[in-house]
Amino acid sequence: MVEERYRAKWSCPSNIALVKYWGKRPGQLPINPSFSFSLQKSRTETSVSIQKSSKPEISFLFEGKESPFGERVRKYLELLKLDYPWMQNYSFLIESENTFPHSAGIASSASSFGALALCLTDLSMKVQEVTVDEKVFSETASRMARAGSGSACRSIYSGFALWGKSGQVEGTTDRNAIPFREKIHPQFQGLMDAVLLVDSGKKQVSSSSGHELMNQHPFKENRVAQANQNLKTILESMKSGDVKTFFEIVENEALTLHALMMSSSPSVVLLKAESLIIIEKIRTFRQQTDTPVGFTIDAGPNIHLLYFKENRTQVRDFIQTELTGLLENEQWMDDRIGEGPEKLE
Ligand code: DP6
Repeated sequence: MVEERYRAKWSCPSNIALVKYWGKRPGQLPINPSFSFSLQKSRTETSVSIQKSSKPEISFLFEGKESPFGERVRKYLELLKLDYPWMQNYSFLIESENTFPHSAGIASSASSFGALALCLTDLSMKVQEVTVDEKVFSETASRMARAGSGSACRSIYSGFALWGKSGQVEGTTDRNAIPFREKIHPQFQGLMDAVLLVDSGKKQVSSSSGHELMNQHPFKENRVAQANQNLKTILESMKSGDVKTFFEIVENEALTLHALMMSSSPSVVLLKAESLIIIEKIRTFRQQTDTPVGFTIDAGPNIHLLYFKENRTQVRDFIQTELTGLLENEQWMDDRIGEGPEKLE
């Protein structure tokens, strides 16, 4: 019998949303469009080896060991088998590691499902002996990644990405993310992200149960309208180089996300006292020095300080003198807008 084995290995970045995905419909479809950029350093590297088998098994190793994430990966593969019947006849060995410390407080589900979906798309093409162009490959991987974690679908692209149907940009869809390649002011290509670690502890609420809180949220309808309006405004600001409006929208989105959580039933408060002090310090620094900086926040207490590469020296000084004392073990990650996934094998 001829053995049928294949292997694929990809590195995929995490991404940070500027317009937030919060709330979903069945099938992991978003209630509003979201907009993000991929990071450069915060990545997951995953290899998937498959072998034809009459008794298919799924093994998942994270940094060489069994991990609780394995259960989520198994469920994910079972779900994908419905759309990709070839998967039913193969055993899977998935090996994954992150390039950032566990304690970095960075959402790793986006980079994890991104890297896994890229491997699976690659293998799917090999097993079925089909070739597709880069656009179709990325869209397929993005759709597959979405099935694992909504925000992961945006990690498939370098630079900025859009996910969710919007009248603002042609080609947007709820099914997968697309790259945002319209002409923008060059300053935004030098976007930097200092990830300030306030607390690396486990989240009190998983993203999935957080999204559920939106189903009955009294502000749901207005939130959807606001996200659409914010998307329009932020894209305009990036085309015209209006940095002030850009940061206004980014901060409005971050604080709206947390306001929605706080005003949900049950209510969820993820920000810590240090998070609020950092926000205040960032705003004071901006006001006093006129340096274009701002912040965004995911569903957790850590603050992403956003700035541009030409202001690197001032911002680093500001972090060292004003912020490190508020951080867990003085930890922060010096990241920036990134070049997207990389095929490793
Ligand atoms: C606050 O993508 O982690 O980071 O689809 O349930 O896996 P699931 O949720 P997830 O939600 C991310 C929410 C967010 C905002 C964003 O990334 O847009």
